[in-house]
Amino acid sequence: MDERELSHLREWFVGFSSSFHGSSEEEQRNIALKEEHTGLVCANIRRIAREETRDAGRVALAEACALFHDIGRFPQYRRYGTFKDSISVNHGVLGADLLAQGGALDKFPRNEQTIVIQAVRHHNAFAVPSSLDAECAFYLRLVRDADKLDIWRVFLEFYRLPEGERASAVSLGFPDLPGCSPDVIEALRRGEMVRLARVRSLNDFKLLQLSWVYDLNFPVSFRMLLERDYIGGLGKVLPPDEEVERAVQAVREFALCAAAWTGGDGCTISA
Ligand SMILES: [Fe+2]
Repeated sequence: MDERELSHLREWFVGFSSSFHGSSEEEQRNIALKEEHTGLVCANIRRIAREETRDAGRVALAEACALFHDIGRFPQYRRYGTFKDSISVNHGVLGADLLAQGGALDKFPRNEQTIVIQAVRHHNAFAVPSSLDAECAFYLRLVRDADKLDIWRVFLEFYRLPEGERASAVSLGFPDLPGCSPDVIEALRRGEMVRLARVRSLNDFKLLQLSWVYDLNFPVSFRMLLERDYIGGLGKVLPPDEEVERAVQAVREFALCAAAWTGGDGCTISA
């Protein structure tokens, strides 16, 4: 894929997303959030991909994966009025099915179509499926890192806004209860990804977001995470609690080690 082809895809995306612009202020805020998110995930993936490959065609293809990764969000919000997959539809699968039906990617070689469609389908899965071939898995890992690096921004902006100005669909409707669940704190401290099914409150959800650090794939992604101080930002919106602070510190140490990683055995939680 070259830059000219990529810019055609960007135009396609603008036409597609504009067709979902909402009638109410709240709808518009939620849709605009996804448009802005897409642009920033594209910027993130360019930086990560450029560190991982010198091939401009592969960087452009990576950006196409980022451009389309959330297209399922638009029909999901129109149909169900929510971004919560568990009460509506898996937006990765919806987006991949939409692309597979034809349209935007028709002119591209079959292998490039497969890479983009698989990246969209699995970008929000709990883990990278082992069934994917190495090339598809590479692009999927790029998109998963680029996506997380912007979702952290979206959530931190959300938590900082007064309630009336928040895009309502961001928090997925979790109740803002005091404290965190002990099993969720412990999972984070042990270096585990927290499953959504274990989340009982908005504070647990913040810990789940921190646990995504364990799923980043590339050293540059960890450097971007640290530059932007997302761990510190999420730490500040969590309740003051010794166990929580210890878990956040475990995440920070893991990220510092991974950012400096250049090969070898990688990083483990020592706590
Ligand atoms: Fe997504």
